[in-house]
Amino acid sequence: MCDTRMTLFKTISAVLLVGAYVYFAATQYWILSTRSPVRIELHGNGIEIPSFGLGTWLSDEDKVAHAVEFALESGYNHVDAALIYKNEKETGKGILAANLPRDKLWVTSKLWNADHRPKEATIAVQKSAKDLGVHYLDLYLMHWPVAFVPGKDTKIDESTTIVDTWRVMEDIARSNLTRKIGISNFSKRDVEMILEICQICPYAHEFETHPYLQQQEFVDWHKEIGIKVIAYSPLANTNPVYKDKQKLDPILKDPLWIDLAKKKNGTVAQTILAWGLQRNTVVIPKSVQEKHILENLGALDIKFTEEEMLEISMHDKKTRMNDPGRGWGVKLFADLDDPTQLDGDEDEL
Ligand SMILES: NC(=O)c1ccc[n+]([C@@H]2O[C@H](COP(=O)([O-])OP(=O)(O)OC[C@H]3O[C@@H](n4cnc5c(N)ncnc54)[C@H](OP(=O)(O)O)[C@@H]3O)[C@@H](O)[C@H]2O)c1
Repeated sequence: MCDTRMTLFKTISAVLLVGAYVYFAATQYWILSTRSPVRIELHGNGIEIPSFGLGTWLSDEDKVAHAVEFALESGYNHVDAALIYKNEKETGKGILAANLPRDKLWVTSKLWNADHRPKEATIAVQKSAKDLGVHYLDLYLMHWPVAFVPGKDTKIDESTTIVDTWRVMEDIARSNLTRKIGISNFSKRDVEMILEICQICPYAHEFETHPYLQQQEFVDWHKEIGIKVIAYSPLANTNPVYKDKQKLDPILKDPLWIDLAKKKNGTVAQTILAWGLQRNTVVIPKSVQEKHILENLGALDIKFTEEEMLEISMHDKKTRMNDPGRGWGVKLFADLDDPTQLDGDEDEL
């Protein structure tokens, strides 16, 4: 009798145990499958992105090492690089020569369009870190929301979506080759798509914004959703490759900015960069000249009144300088100011 009771007791216990396990597993599955994306902060104690950095696009290979070393010795602590700039090795020489403690330095690099597939991406991020001479990057960006077929020039890779690439970026973050991951040149819809699926969500978005392409709503929206904005080409059409693309006079000769600079006792470039800082964007002006590298730092001392900020906002020209979408046959910036116009778009209007 006692044995029968014991057997019954054991059976009931086993059933209850299995039941409890199944219930626990089911609730965990439900929680995991319905929760909203979490922001996993890797290396959470590291420094946040410095608001001022040195750009390196089009920096001559024979000048960039000195420019980077000089900038880092003059007070910069942030370098914006990319594999496609084809000068990361020389940029790395400048970083090495300046010899800043690693935790006092911010290094960004970017995944090129031809490297979105997992195998290529792994090779690319390792190459960037090695060339830049760092064990890890601080920020690794998906350079464009566009994938090319590896080894096929600019042929679009229809089989790789930005979601696929974001999964690859997350794996790169998990591999500790970068502290943070982010995006560049995304439309609002593209950003939303990533936010819907991310497990490690974008830390920063680097895109073109300056007084001639202010995109204030887009900038404000990033603040609401907690993504930092890095403003590229902060000096608008000063980059010489933009000279013939737009019919605008150089911003450095714009009477509005000349007047503001006089009022602020600064140079025009300093004043424009100061506006970028005041609207809470990170600015990354490129220069290979000592004079400009030092001059640009002066932006940190200039502040605007609310009236001045309002006045500047009324001079937005909504003009994009950098749009390779046409050449790639891809409509970029679809929901933003001055989106890509492809042949035939005029007929659609
Ligand atoms: N994520 C992306 O897709 C993307 C795209 C574009 C740019 N970027 C990043 O953003 C960085 C900055 O953008 P950017 O290079 O296009 O343009 P930028 O920094 O706005 O302008 C660079 C140009 O301004 C000149 N310059 C710099 N300081 C000056 C000053 N104080 N007075 C007069 N001229 C001055 C530079 O010439 P000197 O060198 O002779 O001084 C250079 O020709 C790039 O270098 C790159 O790192 C990223």
